[in-house]
Amino acid sequence: MSEVKEKQEKVLVEQDDEKKSPKTKRKRESEERSVNYEEVKNSRGRSPDPEPSKRLKYDTEQNTKDDTVSSTVDSNKEEKESLTEEVCNDNAIIVAKHYNSLENKNLAQRNRSRIIYLRNFNNWIKSMLITKFVEEIKSKMNHGSRMKVLDMCCGKGGDLFKWKKANISHLICIDLAEVTVQQCHDRYKDLLKRNASQRNSLFSAEFITADCTKVRLRRKFEDPSMYLDIVSCQFAFHYCFESLQQAECMIQNASECLKPGGYFIGTIPDAYDLVSRWQKCDGNSFGNDVYNVEFFCDKEKPPIFGAKYHFQLEGVVNCPEFLVYLPAFKKLALKFGLEMVLFERFDDFYDNMKDKDKQLLNIIQALEVYPPRDGPPVGDPDRDYQHAKEYLKMYPNYSQIGTLSKSEWEVTSLYAVFAFKKMKTVWNKDGEAEYVNS
Ligand SMILES: C[S@@+](CC[C@H](N)C(=O)[O-])C[C@H]1O[C@@H](n2cnc3c(N)ncnc32)[C@H](O)[C@@H]1O
Repeated sequence: MSEVKEKQEKVLVEQDDEKKSPKTKRKRESEERSVNYEEVKNSRGRSPDPEPSKRLKYDTEQNTKDDTVSSTVDSNKEEKESLTEEVCNDNAIIVAKHYNSLENKNLAQRNRSRIIYLRNFNNWIKSMLITKFVEEIKSKMNHGSRMKVLDMCCGKGGDLFKWKKANISHLICIDLAEVTVQQCHDRYKDLLKRNASQRNSLFSAEFITADCTKVRLRRKFEDPSMYLDIVSCQFAFHYCFESLQQAECMIQNASECLKPGGYFIGTIPDAYDLVSRWQKCDGNSFGNDVYNVEFFCDKEKPPIFGAKYHFQLEGVVNCPEFLVYLPAFKKLALKFGLEMVLFERFDDFYDNMKDKDKQLLNIIQALEVYPPRDGPPVGDPDRDYQHAKEYLKMYPNYSQIGTLSKSEWEVTSLYAVFAFKKMKTVWNKDGEAEYVNS
């Protein structure tokens, strides 16, 4: 039985601020004003079987090795210090090559995608996560002060507009893939041009090509003594779980850039959910018509680091990714003075945040209107909308609702948001850093 949300909402859809013409915007606004638009979450779109026993299995089995994490972490300290940008393995090359070769799709091409709503929904989640922690920091800042931010693994700059909205003063964008960094820089220049006539100045920015898992990032900043309020790492942190060294380097980078009280935030695939689905299936591969995951490691005992899988979305084979074993992530983070304050699957985060900015949910079309106004739905009309049909049957007063196809829910519910707060550093008598809550 589908989980059905009972709350009614009248939704007025506005057009995407950045990209769509005012003409289309007015057209859509007038069309949408007459729609009773309900948010419906498809519970079957959660993990097909987030069976607690399976989830626990991964947890407890790995916990025995958890102490190994800290001792290995300590013994690797000196080795880590010597890491330089010259260190480069095949995986970094594969990742950079993959992202460098991705086509820069225009709006029309993106709108034709089978997973357009999934992409928009993920974007909404990022916006809400960023807003939540921007507000948190602003509430403690002096009036008129503005934030400084690091976008780690920034990609093509999909979050630039979010930082503009947050009215930050400076942004550092870093990514492994050179072409991607250039595209991000070009996008920033466009934003700068469009902002020229506005009263509020756009944030300043710097763009760096670097491997966040191998290089001390602070040394590359224009001002290496700068402290930041937020480090954001969206849909990319999982690459560092290839090895302990890389995970440590990435976390240390996040931590040492932050002021006490600053936040390290991000989005990652939820390892428990991935493992749960994997253990349910025969073999090493599972998915649906929009995604496929294939594992390349021991199914019984996936390693803490280097638990490799390929994630294929809309037919495009992605580069190797790695499970982020949560207890290890938390432990390493704490070692560098980062305390976990949030870890929530997307579907739970959506439940908690959806009432905070329904307008944005509609502006960016994060949910599909069902039944569609014209044409077929993006998913399979027979298989993908059972939950929506049941809802409409139960509430005959509504003519349309906002939802995602079952296949897309199955993808988005694989992901989770996280946030860590930077603790205050105190130096002990041996000259070593210790961390205390600020
Ligand atoms: C899925 S994209 C996400 C881009 C962006 N954060 C977003 O949310 O739109 C992942 C990005 O991580 C970058 N990346 C992967 N491994 C990296 C590493 N070790 N150091 C820096 N960037 C990396 C890739 O080049 C790619 O641009």
